[in-house]
Amino acid sequence: MRMRKKKNLIPRMEACAALWVKDPGAQRGKWRELKPGARLLRLELGCGKGRFTAETAAAHPEDLYVAVERVPDAMVIAMERCRDMGLTNVFFIDGDAAALSDCFAPDEVDLIYINFCDPWPSVKHAPRRLTHQNFLRGYREVLKDGGQIHFKTDNRALFEWSLFQFPKAGFRLSEVTRDLHGHGIRGVMTDYEEKFHAMGTPINRCVGTKGPLPDVPVAEGLAARLEGWEIRPVTEEDFGAVLALEERCADFFALGGWTVSADSLRQDMADLPPKCAPAQKHFLALWQDGAPRAVLDVVEGYPRPRTLHIGLLVLDPALRRQGHGRAVVNALLAAAKEAGFDRVRLACLLTNPDGHAFWTALGFTDLRQDNLLGEKSQPVWIMERLI
Ligand SMILES: C[S@@+](CC[C@H](N)C(=O)[O-])C[C@H]1O[C@@H](n2cnc3c(N)ncnc32)[C@H](O)[C@@H]1O
Repeated sequence: MRMRKKKNLIPRMEACAALWVKDPGAQRGKWRELKPGARLLRLELGCGKGRFTAETAAAHPEDLYVAVERVPDAMVIAMERCRDMGLTNVFFIDGDAAALSDCFAPDEVDLIYINFCDPWPSVKHAPRRLTHQNFLRGYREVLKDGGQIHFKTDNRALFEWSLFQFPKAGFRLSEVTRDLHGHGIRGVMTDYEEKFHAMGTPINRCVGTKGPLPDVPVAEGLAARLEGWEIRPVTEEDFGAVLALEERCADFFALGGWTVSADSLRQDMADLPPKCAPAQKHFLALWQDGAPRAVLDVVEGYPRPRTLHIGLLVLDPALRRQGHGRAVVNALLAAAKEAGFDRVRLACLLTNPDGHAFWTALGFTDLRQDNLLGEKSQPVWIMERLI
């Protein structure tokens, strides 16, 4: 529902200045300073006119509440409500739930409420749903381990779909009900909830508790998208064939002044960026017609949790300039997005202008110049693409 533009919006917002955190980034990691001694930090995403946050915060004065709402015309009503109730434990962010990690530090939040979020019924708009696994993975970054998301909706299709999203983002489900108020009103109602309940629409609710992320290797998503290719980690058994491929690609390695050998391949297979665990790294060979045709080294969660880092992509010279490299990268971008990453990063040698043009054509942009770490130190462009 589109809200009518409120008259005097700015003066009304300013009149609630004590509750309105205009620069939430500056508060990152310091929210509890707003209410020293607060037991829990609870967030509501998309608070609308704020009935739920106001009444829950009034019932739990020992906790700190932050409500996020991207429509100021709705948020101003929520702020006025809390101000008029004399609440001092509620604060508001006029912003997007997609950017939580810019406003909150890792582990800073105990509980997140998502109440009656927009259902975005068309499949092509599914990534906009606040319970899409990509959003849930973003919330993970600020929720402490064991922290919870409490989700309510009147929309049964959205609810059933969301039940599959939570486990994909590493949340264990509990308290799943498709008729929350079937035996009498339970908990604080939101503005939307009251309306739907009055119309006789059953309310769905579940709780997701943050646990470990499931193993969703990017390699699986890549294989699903690259018909005719087989993708597998490089093993001892495949080592000789992969070394032969790298030797055919000596021109690429020469750009960095490196020679290909069994030792260099073993080194590349073992190398890890700083502070990364071996489980984050996937050193893959891409096979076609019984032979490895490309080598792809990716590191999940480097340098940020939702970044996929490409350490190496090299293609058999016989397959170059036929669109294969582009197809592999496009499949990788889609697989990375599906696995919950929000950007892909790489380092391209300054001595490799063709490579730089290739990545630029695929939507990567230069972040800065840097030097590769370790023995192979060479000047590079750090390039990145949001997905
Ligand atoms: C259907 S209303 C529900 C409001 C309230 N939670 C309730 O139950 O009454 C959804 C609200 O979420 C807000 N919203 C949607 N997407 C958002 C986002 N990405 N970040 C912050 N707020 C968002 C909308 O502006 C709207 O106010």
